[in-house]
Amino acid sequence: MSGEQDWNKKTVKILSKKEGNTRCADCGEPDPQWASYTLGVFLCVTCCGIHRNLSEISKVKSLTMANWEEEQIEFLDRHGNVAAKAKYEAHVPIYYYRPTHADCHVLREQWIRAKYERKQFMKKEGSDGFSGGVKEGILLKRGRDNGQYLARKFVLTELDGTLKYFIKSDAKEPKAVIKVDSINAIFQPEKMKQTNGLQITYVKDNRARNLFVYHNDGKEIVSWFNAIRAAQFHYMKVAFPTASDKEILSRLPQNFLKEGYMEKTGPKPTDAFKKRWFTLDHRRLMYFKDPLDAFAKGEVFLGSSENGYQVKAEMVPSSYSNVWNYGISISTPERTYIFTCESEVERESWLNVFKKVLSLPMTVREYAVEAQFKHRS
Ligand SMILES: *[C@@H]1O[C@H](CO)[C@@H](O)[C@H](O)[C@H]1NC(C)=O
Ligand SMILES: [Zn+2]
Repeated sequence: MSGEQDWNKKTVKILSKKEGNTRCADCGEPDPQWASYTLGVFLCVTCCGIHRNLSEISKVKSLTMANWEEEQIEFLDRHGNVAAKAKYEAHVPIYYYRPTHADCHVLREQWIRAKYERKQFMKKEGSDGFSGGVKEGILLKRGRDNGQYLARKFVLTELDGTLKYFIKSDAKEPKAVIKVDSINAIFQPEKMKQTNGLQITYVKDNRARNLFVYHNDGKEIVSWFNAIRAAQFHYMKVAFPTASDKEILSRLPQNFLKEGYMEKTGPKPTDAFKKRWFTLDHRRLMYFKDPLDAFAKGEVFLGSSENGYQVKAEMVPSSYSNVWNYGISISTPERTYIFTCESEVERESWLNVFKKVLSLPMTVREYAVEAQFKHRS
């Protein structure tokens, strides 16, 4: 018997090296060590944990630790990740976000449930509750002043490319009208201390603003997230008829390049250093008093090194009011900013993202944003 088990384990191991099976079927993480023998897919440990909660449809086992039966191996052999993808991801809409290993739990869980439980992508146009180009519903929105989450009605309309919200569900006038092409939507479970927390950052009158929303149902919040992407995608298809789908996709919401605390000083050397929460969104470096503030205290546009933007490390002696010494200086054509980080590691991490942004040439659209920044300062 043990000889047979040995042979079975070896066979499972060989199957796991076949094309498509060397990455998790659901998040793409390399070298999956688990498999579902009812769906016939190879999975990473985290996605496997989510599959355990779908026990009606997915039964999982470790590739190395479990005993494998012949029929289970045959099933895995007949299916596998390539075949499963063809079946369960046959009609994933082009704008739909496919989570990676780095993404938060709600995005991954809902992707897995959408694929195997709701079989959402097996039929055409079965994608989401966004048919007709309008999505309407209640989300809990964080109050600007008191930080309390209150129910607000949100309406997303593809045709005019807007997301509106209303204080009362029967109100005629929206509290805000947000242009979808200015939105960046990012899941923020840790920052918001909400498993289903979504940050919606947008630009109004050339200034960034934040909305923090959530829905108790993970399916609903992920559906909003993808509906925003759908509206943006279709809006940009019309606005930029010559742009390829790939170009348009690259403009859809992307995770912030980096967030975290630094200290900053004002333009004068005697100005006090203050600890601020920094968010780098594309070329827009924003800083906030509190990570959940609705408005930025200030914003810096980061252009390209070919246009006179520079970044370098600089030790800042504690002769002023700074608590941290690991400094970074950023020079723009207008001014030099000094920031300080808590540690060498943190400074390296910020420097790397700043250098990466500065190394890229600016697009036409980014020149326009730069001009807006110059205009207002
Ligand atoms: C499985 O479900 C339980 C109960 O709903 C939940 O607490 C847990 O976080 C889920 N685990 C995963 C990995 O999704
Ligand atoms: Zn995975």
